[in-house]
Amino acid sequence: MTHREAALRLNLLLFLHVVAQVWSYGPQQWPVPYRRFDRRPDVDSYCEALYPFCPTGDRDGRIPYLRDSDVISVYRLQTPVWEFKYGDLMGKFHIMHDAVGFSSSETGANYTMEWYELFQLGNCTFPHLRPEQYAPFWCNQGAACFFEGIDDLHWSQNGTLEKLGEITGNQFNDMAQWVQDDNKTGIYYETWTVRSDPSPNATVWFESYDCSQFVHRTYRKLTELGAKLSSRTQTNYTKIYLFSGEPTYLGNDSAIFGQPALKNLATDIRKFYHPFRPHQSFKDFAFSLLEAYKQVVLDKSFYLYYNFEYWHLPMKPPYIQITYEEVPLP
Ligand SMILES: *[C@@H]1O[C@H](CO)[C@@H](O)[C@H](O)[C@H]1NC(C)=O
Ligand SMILES: *[C@@H]1O[C@H](CO)[C@@H](O)[C@H](O)[C@H]1NC(C)=O
Ligand SMILES: *[C@@H]1O[C@H](CO)[C@@H](O)[C@H](O)[C@H]1NC(C)=O
Ligand SMILES: *[C@@H]1O[C@H](CO)[C@@H](O)[C@H](O)[C@H]1NC(C)=O
Ligand SMILES: *[C@@H]1O[C@H](CO)[C@@H](O)[C@H](O)[C@H]1NC(C)=O
Ligand SMILES: *[C@@H]1O[C@H](CO)[C@@H](O)[C@H](O)[C@H]1NC(C)=O
Ligand SMILES: *[C@@H]1O[C@H](CO)[C@@H](O)[C@H](O)[C@H]1NC(C)=O
Repeated sequence: MTHREAALRLNLLLFLHVVAQVWSYGPQQWPVPYRRFDRRPDVDSYCEALYPFCPTGDRDGRIPYLRDSDVISVYRLQTPVWEFKYGDLMGKFHIMHDAVGFSSSETGANYTMEWYELFQLGNCTFPHLRPEQYAPFWCNQGAACFFEGIDDLHWSQNGTLEKLGEITGNQFNDMAQWVQDDNKTGIYYETWTVRSDPSPNATVWFESYDCSQFVHRTYRKLTELGAKLSSRTQTNYTKIYLFSGEPTYLGNDSAIFGQPALKNLATDIRKFYHPFRPHQSFKDFAFSLLEAYKQVVLDKSFYLYYNFEYWHLPMKPPYIQITYEEVPLP
């Protein structure tokens, strides 16, 4: 089979998938709702954290109970991502990490609350291709971490530490209950926001699910509980965008990688993720970059993993963009 024939067969396959999808489920809802789970599954031992998750947090994620008479200050916390040890570089690109801080006026204790990847950003963005497993393998869990203390210097020196308002003990306790539920049902990290184009009224196909989305959910919850939050400065957040035409649903691991009839699609997905594999030598990485460019820009193709299912994105210019844009407080 020539390359062209293979491409045609794949296109036909994608088309049949769309037809089947519309027949069986009706029109698709956009953005695709992020799936909530009943509980968080155990982590596969293949996934290894470079830095331990939430080292100073309570093992069971318990959050202290505060008296209703307490007055608790709420802080917006933001700092450049240091994960790759590129120093301030991530700050220059405005790749920021967000968190929320609390301090109790009765006890004097303060707390940091954040949501992040269990196995670092790269592992949440691209899978591992394991020789013994046909389906790409994802270490993409993310979770909330609540711990005592606010490292003022860490947040304020190259980022933001700003008080947004005050809440009562009851509001804090209600929020704590909400965080624990949110943490049990929202279990995986999603790096990408996918939209039809960069204009403000573009269609959003998929929303990201990351540290800043957690902060927005928390602010919305606090506002719903009656808190008044305000900032003197613009509240900007990092967004990582992909741009594409209407996505096509492909299926989950067993549907794609467990059926001989979809072998071409399965092979194509593995091929797609090959250039993005972790731990490459510099030479391999340079080659992979070209390969990724060919797939995404020249072939205009991207396989997105969302809700533990694959979607095909027909990519469009400007393909990919990292922005640092305002999301106002609720
Ligand atoms: C990603 O996962 C691999 C395999 O589990 C692990 O070795 C690595 O430490 C993780 N983190 C990064 C940044 O690659
Ligand atoms: C969220 O879930 C993770 C993973 O199970 C756990 O380590 C963490 O303590 C939980 N956090 C909260 C605030 O419940
Ligand atoms: C949090 O508590 C530490 C230790 O008491 C203190 O140094 C720091 O200034 C406090 N930060 C905030 C924002 O309350
Ligand atoms: C702030 O950035 C500088 C480099 O620009 C770095 O040396 C310093 O450690 C950073 N501060 C914190 C608290 O991370
Ligand atoms: C947004 O949508 C309106 C009508 O729905 C259209 O007139 C306008 O041109 C659109 N704006 C952009 C920037 O695409
Ligand atoms: C995968 O999708 C099929 C339908 O295409 C469904 O029957 C099956 O339960 C799904 N498997 C998982 C693990 O979600
Ligand atoms: C914050 O976002 C606004 C609007 O989204 C933008 O105009 C502004 O340049 C951003 N600020 C920074 C420091 O990037």
